[in-house]
Amino acid sequence: MVLAEQQRQSDGAGQHPVKLSCRHIWKLFGQDADTFLKGRATPDAEALAAAGLVGAVRDVSLDVPEGEIFIVMGLSGSGKSTLLRCLSRLIEPTAGEVLFEGRDLLKAGEREMIEIRRHKMGMVFQNFALLPHLSVLDNVAFPLAIQGVSKSKRIARAREVIELVGLKGRELSYPRQLSGGQQQRVGIARSLAVGPELWFLDEPFSALDPLIRREMQAELQRLQAVLKKTIVFITHDFDEAIRLADRIAIMKDGALVQVGTPEELILHPATSYVAEFTRDVQRSKVMSVRSLMQPFNSAHTFIGQVRDTDKIGAVAGQIIESGRPVAVVDAEGRLVGEIAPGPILDMLLGRGNGAAA
Ligand SMILES: Nc1ncnc2c1ncn2[C@@H]1O[C@H](COP(=O)(O)OP(=O)(O)O)[C@@H](O)[C@H]1O
Ligand SMILES: [Mg+2]
Repeated sequence: MVLAEQQRQSDGAGQHPVKLSCRHIWKLFGQDADTFLKGRATPDAEALAAAGLVGAVRDVSLDVPEGEIFIVMGLSGSGKSTLLRCLSRLIEPTAGEVLFEGRDLLKAGEREMIEIRRHKMGMVFQNFALLPHLSVLDNVAFPLAIQGVSKSKRIARAREVIELVGLKGRELSYPRQLSGGQQQRVGIARSLAVGPELWFLDEPFSALDPLIRREMQAELQRLQAVLKKTIVFITHDFDEAIRLADRIAIMKDGALVQVGTPEELILHPATSYVAEFTRDVQRSKVMSVRSLMQPFNSAHTFIGQVRDTDKIGAVAGQIIESGRPVAVVDAEGRLVGEIAPGPILDMLLGRGNGAAA
């Protein structure tokens, strides 16, 4: 009942059922945090400060559809990790609801919760906490050992995910013999070993050098193309967010400021705070043809065509070279509009706000 309603209400990606959602989640730290909210509607930051409480998460509601990479982005201290811990119930929210596959997680018993985390959730953190005395193979097989999977089965599965993350050949190495990037790959493999439905990653690449970090981002995209997990990924880096996200939730001081696709955030930032993050983003890398196209004009004859979902940067050369409007088609090859060189040049040269006139 509740789930059906939420699926209807979710604007999410539209087509996919909601995998994880939360409603009015609060997490307050401080004395009498648990009683403070009772009978109070929604205290603002001043009221919390006056009561000596930290509003780590304040009234957060969101829906994550199946198969989506949902990014939670915010500066350090904005409440990202606390929110993620509430979603996996590693900590108890002060108030609110968490629904996983339609089931109220906050009503699950302790044992049940352990089972759900063990079998259905994968987690990767910034400090990957590998077991130093175990080989790569045994580190990755570890969660399966806890599940009671037989030795031969867990070793076979561990080899499979080790290969998946590109570490074939390093099975017998120990963590200290690996670079930071390789260690994080082991962490990723370990979290994937149990085949989780829901994958939580809390700043998994933040401790890595920029180049390795880019490599790991590409790796995650490659893995996701194969695995199609539902992912909640936390970062304080807006560039990382737009590179990976289907949708981004921007947090500030414990509250959600805006949730949207990278394109939506760039075209329609809800606040000056969001606009500040999007200001230096290279628009042509994020914006799709759809956002710049015009209605189809039958007076033109087209010599080329592009997809509505193509990124401007990827097709700009083709369109500018053609010197005239190019047809825009959707996934089924239907003509949905046209796109001219002019607005593309404007975007590339930083003229106007990058939106279609
Ligand atoms: N156990 C705790 N006790 C008190 N305050 C906490 C605790 N955990 C987090 N906080 C506070 O909650 C806020 C959000 O922290 P956190 O969720 O770790 O932010 P982020 O992950 O975005 O950096 C911060 O002000 C932090 O100091
Ligand atoms: Mg954090």
